Amino acid sequence: MIQSRREFVVEALATGIAMGEQKDNLQIATTLKIVQVGDAVLRSKARQLSVEEVRSKGIQQLIEWMRHTMYDAPGVGLAAPQVGLPLQLAVIEDKDEYMRDVPVESLKEREREPVPFHVIVNPRITKHGGHTVTFFEGCLSVNGFVALVPRSRQVTVECLDHRGEPQIIHASGWHARILQHEIGHLRGELYIDRMISRSFCTVEAFTRNWKAKTINEVQKALDIKG
Ligand code: CO
Repeated sequence: MIQSRREFVVEALATGIAMGEQKDNLQIATTLKIVQVGDAVLRSKARQLSVEEVRSKGIQQLIEWMRHTMYDAPGVGLAAPQVGLPLQLAVIEDKDEYMRDVPVESLKEREREPVPFHVIVNPRITKHGGHTVTFFEGCLSVNGFVALVPRSRQVTVECLDHRGEPQIIHASGWHARILQHEIGHLRGELYIDRMISRSFCTVEAFTRNWKAKTINEVQKALDIKG
């Protein structure tokens, strides 16, 4: 991913140079610093944005920067507190290309499918549905670790979109998990508050020990009640 970021920056620079003072092309390449666990902003309660604010140049620019920061990481979601801003705003996208290395059974088990890019502003979970499902989950602000986290299989979210228009999202499977994770950030929560702590491990250990196993096998091996 580092290589792709370089290519992206080089391309943006080249375009900017070719087009003279086209600063917009340079701004697209901006990646923001992602704060790590321990930073107080991750524990603050983010404030709501007004429709006017959502439509403002500043927030529109922030959305683009967050989008590219998420791609650069790469991640499937990024909330404003993770870039140091306690605002109720998050970006989400799950790409086909992220699923190439994931076994089909694993995608099926997680109900993971591509989710187009979308923005959630001032989100509220109005309904939790389905049973609770437990899977490994990580966070760009708890870099290098993952853990099993129980979450609702389905959620209904009411929010504003990137234009400040009201939206109702009915999500299930992995998209529902991403929404719950990102909305947690806006409340000052992290997945480590909800994780099954016995399963907390480095990404390296996860890849070595658990990646190829079913969740039932992992729970059995770690003596976790399913
Ligand atoms: Co996170």
